[in-house]
Amino acid sequence: MIRYSKIIVFILCLWPLVIISLNIYYNELGAEPVKKIMNHFGEWTLIFICLTLAMSPLKRFTNLAFWTKFRRMLGLFVFFYATIHLLTYIGLDYRFDWQPIFNDVLKKKFIFIGFSAWLLLIPLAATSSQKMINLLKQNWKKLHRIVYIIAIFGALHYIWLSKTIFFKPLIYSVIIVVLLILRIRIKTRKFNYE
Ligand code: HEM
Repeated sequence: MIRYSKIIVFILCLWPLVIISLNIYYNELGAEPVKKIMNHFGEWTLIFICLTLAMSPLKRFTNLAFWTKFRRMLGLFVFFYATIHLLTYIGLDYRFDWQPIFNDVLKKKFIFIGFSAWLLLIPLAATSSQKMINLLKQNWKKLHRIVYIIAIFGALHYIWLSKTIFFKPLIYSVIIVVLLILRIRIKTRKFNYE
């Protein structure tokens, strides 16, 4: 089972694509299809950020190293879904009309922070291979701590676009804060033992 776990997790990670494809096929996207697709991938990006952050605490609580095997794959899915989310906004919402897109990025703070989060994901995705881990050594870990900033930016993006923290943005923000506290505690313990 463990041998096949990565393949199983990979297939499960494609679930958001399956749901939206079924919605498109059965014409169930509602009155605002573009908004529905965009929000769908935005929310799944945030879910994958939470899942990625949850792997180390799960390893600690269950005493099973196997959770961290999925961290890299989940992180790449964050980038994958964030990119589809961005492309939906650029391609379907604005039909590649760059001027209003630039105005949005500069004038709307929720777009600015979402775009910043996506930009920060690029170096993480680009350095996710084993070759880059070997090449960057300790700097790789330092670089990949950017994921904490990305998580905070993602939560802020959701709060600001919703114009209220109630209710889903609050749930995701609490989950992210708890996961960040757990990660910091794991790091501090490691540091104290060293
Ligand atoms: C890590 C990166 C990002 C995360 C985690 C994220 C997350 C989200 C979430 C959770 C939603 C709302 C979903 C819902 O209401 O169900 C959303 C909506 C949206 N996001 Fe993002 N997003 C990210 C990046 C971006 C980028 C790069 C852009 C564009 C430059 C963007 C533009 C939008 C827009 C326009 C909406 C819809 C707002 C509306 O309802 O009118 N996001 N995003």
